[in-house]
Amino acid sequence: MRLNKYLSLCGIASRRKCEEYITSGRVTVNGKTVNALGTVINEKKDVVSVDGKTLSMPNEFVYLKLNKPKGYACTKSDEKGRKTIFDLVESDVRLFNVGRLDFNTEGLIFLTNDGDFANMVTHPSFHFEKEYHVTVEGEMKESEFAVLRRGVVENGKRMPEAKVKFLSWDGKFTKLSVVIDEGQNHQVRRMFDAIGKDIKLLKRVRIGNVTLGGLYRGKTKSMTEEEIACFTGAK
Ligand code: URA
Repeated sequence: MRLNKYLSLCGIASRRKCEEYITSGRVTVNGKTVNALGTVINEKKDVVSVDGKTLSMPNEFVYLKLNKPKGYACTKSDEKGRKTIFDLVESDVRLFNVGRLDFNTEGLIFLTNDGDFANMVTHPSFHFEKEYHVTVEGEMKESEFAVLRRGVVENGKRMPEAKVKFLSWDGKFTKLSVVIDEGQNHQVRRMFDAIGKDIKLLKRVRIGNVTLGGLYRGKTKSMTEEEIACFTGAK
């Protein structure tokens, strides 16, 4: 079996992300560091470790939804010593986050130990929509909505189109729904930067057909079989 596939089956991350673990020298096979992406292992015999910890395949898969609050980093350990989403999660098994939200973004993120599931959710070819509620100061013009919908131009390059809907205006802040089906870094913040609007609050409310629902900030909940099947098509 290919090493990146084995790492992902052991719940390290999606297969693509596991490649980064390999190339950055964090993986050993039988005690020797392996950097080559095409490495094939014998999963019955070889001892594979990440950061010095020996891996084994999980007995069961776990799928959680988390309502991430602002001020938490989506990483196992933050180099700046900030709080991380794993401070909010109680689990006997080692989980990883599926994709990321910025430190100051809140809302829906999945945690799992199933690398194939993570791959389905995050791989651009599956085009699962992500919906954000965006609060900006001031009133927004129809022409600005049109620019966001068409795809803003950043450093001469057009960013992907977005579905943009007005939600509310309270005399000070405009609230919008923004739907994208790609996951470029800081994509929503960059879209609003490009039109000179400062985001006050960014919250992800939906991934594919799975919504945040009534999940309280900072809380986790197991995903239902129907929710998991939205991505795996297994039902
Ligand atoms: N887009 C952003 O800019 N930030 C996020 O956290 C998610 C999407």
